[in-house]
Amino acid sequence: MFPIPLQRDFSLRTLNTFGIDARAQVYVAVDGVDTLRAVRANPELAGLPRLVLGGGSNLLFVRDHPGLVLHMRSRGIEVVGQDDDFTYVRAAAGESWHGLVQWTLAQGLGGLENLSLIPGSVGAAPIQNIGAYGIEIKDRFHSLSAFDFVSGESIQLDGAACRFGYRDSVFKHALRDRAVVLDVTFALPRRWQANAAYADVAQALAGIAEPGPADIAAAVIAIRQRKLPDPAQIGNAGSFFKNPIVEAALRDGLAAQHATLVSYRQPDGSYKLAAGWLIDQCGWKGRSLGAAGVYEKQALVLVNRGGASGAEIAALAEAIRQDVHGRFGVWLEPEPVFV
Ligand code: EPU
Repeated sequence: MFPIPLQRDFSLRTLNTFGIDARAQVYVAVDGVDTLRAVRANPELAGLPRLVLGGGSNLLFVRDHPGLVLHMRSRGIEVVGQDDDFTYVRAAAGESWHGLVQWTLAQGLGGLENLSLIPGSVGAAPIQNIGAYGIEIKDRFHSLSAFDFVSGESIQLDGAACRFGYRDSVFKHALRDRAVVLDVTFALPRRWQANAAYADVAQALAGIAEPGPADIAAAVIAIRQRKLPDPAQIGNAGSFFKNPIVEAALRDGLAAQHATLVSYRQPDGSYKLAAGWLIDQCGWKGRSLGAAGVYEKQALVLVNRGGASGAEIAALAEAIRQDVHGRFGVWLEPEPVFV
């Protein structure tokens, strides 16, 4: 029998970027698929509600977790192949996302640079199809392997099977609470082209004649450091709300009333609104409710000003949702998972 390294009544405070002091009934550090097989075969553990934890940067603990936390810690990054178009890089779920981006850049492989400095782990990245500055993981994705808790088998999924959408994938729907990502393989284009259309990035690169991947990474890192709080300093989970997608009629009505409305037309004719702008307009930027606050430099980010409970953060989020709905008729949807 494979030994399961488990701990009971385990504090998760250092394992979530909000720094919420929630506890897990049982905690298991997962270094590979053998641990998952052993958990599935263990009658006590198999019956508990499961939470898979990567970097803990996209969740909010609103109470203790009365179940099992599987903390993905597997390691390894390697080039696994190459053809005329792509270099294929495979990374284990427990690797840090930013560490992977840096590793690829150090090998001279471009493609992930726009996604520099996103907190979290490789295994969590496909779940919400992380994206920033004009690129989403789906644009560089080849396939992944996952452990299926129902069948007990390892399964392979290509991009179509992952059903990627804006901050969305099959892992939030049909495979929710079922598949645990083991490793992800990326297809990095050999004929690299800069993706610098995003206004902030274009501006940061203005003085550079032919920017390479490292230049774009440096620009993105500088922008993120300027706008977003470092979770090591101030607890947060990045954008707390998704940018809402609304019908053109609603957007046109709002644009007629608010000259500075920020909106982006989508291929299907709907519009994505900048949630940060909506929240900012309601006067929430920099404000607090108890120890939960709205970040001074980006209204889309909620922060733990010190000792906040998950319930306090959730209460602030709800107050913001009500205000934005009252003023603009749009319901914001949280991006992090509430546990
Ligand atoms: N804005 C305001 N006030 C604010 C914040 C933003 O008016 O307080 C306006 C800005 O002026 C800008 C617009 O809103 O015109 C968009 O702001 P920004 O460029 O900062 O991007 P975002 O839409 O707020 C999204 C992602 C970020 C990602 C950036 C860059 C979501 C939910 N968020 O933010 O992702 O880094 O674009 O691509 O899609 C994350 O998911 O955790 C995250 C940080």
